[in-house]
Amino acid sequence: MKILGIETSCDETSVAIVEDGRKVLANVIYSQIPLHALTGGVVPEVAAREHVVKMVPVLDEALKKAKCDWDDISAIAITQGPGLISSLIIGTQAANTISFVKNKPLIPVQHIVGHIYSNWLYGPDVSENEIDEISFPALVLTVSGGHNDIILMRGHHKFKVLGETLDDAAGEAFDKVARILGLGYPGGPAISKIAANGNASRFKLPRSFLEKGSLNFSFSGIKTAVLREVQKHSKIDEQFKADMSASFQEAVTDVFVQKTLSALEQNPKVKEFMLAGGVSANTRIRSALAAALPLDVKFRFPKAISYCTDNAAMIAAAGYFLHKLHPRRYKPSTNIVPTMSFEIY
Ligand code: KG4
Ligand code: ZN
Repeated sequence: MKILGIETSCDETSVAIVEDGRKVLANVIYSQIPLHALTGGVVPEVAAREHVVKMVPVLDEALKKAKCDWDDISAIAITQGPGLISSLIIGTQAANTISFVKNKPLIPVQHIVGHIYSNWLYGPDVSENEIDEISFPALVLTVSGGHNDIILMRGHHKFKVLGETLDDAAGEAFDKVARILGLGYPGGPAISKIAANGNASRFKLPRSFLEKGSLNFSFSGIKTAVLREVQKHSKIDEQFKADMSASFQEAVTDVFVQKTLSALEQNPKVKEFMLAGGVSANTRIRSALAAALPLDVKFRFPKAISYCTDNAAMIAAAGYFLHKLHPRRYKPSTNIVPTMSFEIY
């Protein structure tokens, strides 16, 4: 079954076609990053206008790349939220229109759930052999620009949120620290690049573990500590930036490792641990987690960078497994409206 996914929750216009929830036939992503780099962050109105301009060309390109016409598509999956409401409106309106005109069932997908499903994607650059069957229960650490959660997954689309961020999400902290250091937007890739030449023990930044056993996160303290250090120093040269980036990245990594081990201790039946969301592209965070995990817990992360950050393939994949669970639930519709809610079923 081929599902066409649409994602416009923030600053990527993306349309994908995925077969049986895992095989990516096309995953076209038009990134607005160069546009938002001019203002150092996403201006929602500018993002929405750009989605309007790119939606139809991206849709056409995805169908062409996948060598599909509308008769091949069984259903449409759309990111309903959370995200920037003005960006979500463009995607949901496009999906409502296609569903009505082409008479295809419409499947609303929660964006963070989409990120989780990016862990099963393969093709065109990822071989099928790299991805084996998922074993439940699984633990997921979602690390994106807007969300930071630890989620227990007992089966397909069966989630329990065990912990969440009380203030900034990790990606947001990466972006804000990069801004303080003048490293540009988006901050995550810039920090991880420069951190490779830095001394991670030069600055002692706070690790917020909160009370014992807590699976919640807080990153605003680290961000403020970085700002204070910057204000204390008169000379912010390249070495300072590299050392601060490495120290910051190490502090965030320590928190992720500690929280993950704590969650595994509290849930001893977990068979797999997965990363999901834009920050899962970070190689230092990946390698530290891989080294810290107990040997009997399998480590999984999205196999291509384009599956880590926002993309429509993950939305189509999540939509496929929803449709499989509830084959009669989804009908052609013109009524999907965006939501800001994080409600995860
Ligand atoms: O999941 P995502 O694409 O969008 C949201 O749903 O928020 O995540 C975007 C976030 C940004 O904050 C970006 O700085 C971060 O992911 N990011 C990274 C890396 N690549 C992207 N953070 C750390 N290291 C990276 N290599
Ligand atoms: Zn995202």
